[in-house]
Amino acid sequence: MKKILFVCLGNICRSPMAEAIFNHQVHEKGLQNDFMADSAGTANYHVGDQPDHRTIEVLNEKNIIINHQGRQFNKNDVNSFDYLIAMDSQNQRDMRSILQDEDNRVLLIRDFDPIGSGDVPDPYYGGSKDFKEVYEILARSIEQFIHFLIR
Ligand code: 4NP
Repeated sequence: MKKILFVCLGNICRSPMAEAIFNHQVHEKGLQNDFMADSAGTANYHVGDQPDHRTIEVLNEKNIIINHQGRQFNKNDVNSFDYLIAMDSQNQRDMRSILQDEDNRVLLIRDFDPIGSGDVPDPYYGGSKDFKEVYEILARSIEQFIHFLIR
C-alpha cells in the first residue's frame, strides 16, 4: 500500500479535492488496495473544518464523494507517507522548511500535468469558475500521477 499526502494552504479547497479525485480514480481502476490518499494544510486556520462548499459542489457534479476534515501538515507526515504532493510552490517551500527537507521529497502536482506546469491557482477568493478550473487541472494531473505510480 502506497500512501500519498496532498497539501495546500488551508486544506479546505485544493488538497481535499485532490484527495477525493485521487481516491475516486484509484477506485475506478480497481487499485484501492494499492493506494490511499489523505490531505493536509500548511496553515492551521481550518483545522477540523469540512471542505469548502464550492469544493463539495464541484465534486458532487462529478459524482465524487469527499470525506475529509481539515488538518495541519506536520513533520511526522514525512514518515507516514510515500509521496508528499504540494499544490503550489509556496506550499512546497513551507513543507520543505517544516521538514528541513534537503533531498526534496516534496513534489508539485502539476509536475504531472500533461498540458501545463507551475501552481494550482488558489480558488479561495474566487468563484465557482475557479473551482471548476482547479478540478480540471487536478483531474488530468492526477490521472498522469497514477500512471507514474503504477509504471
Ligand atoms: P486551499 O485554499 O489552500 O486550497 O484550501 C485556501 C483556503 C483558506 C484560506 C486560503 C486558501 N484562508 O486564507 O483561510
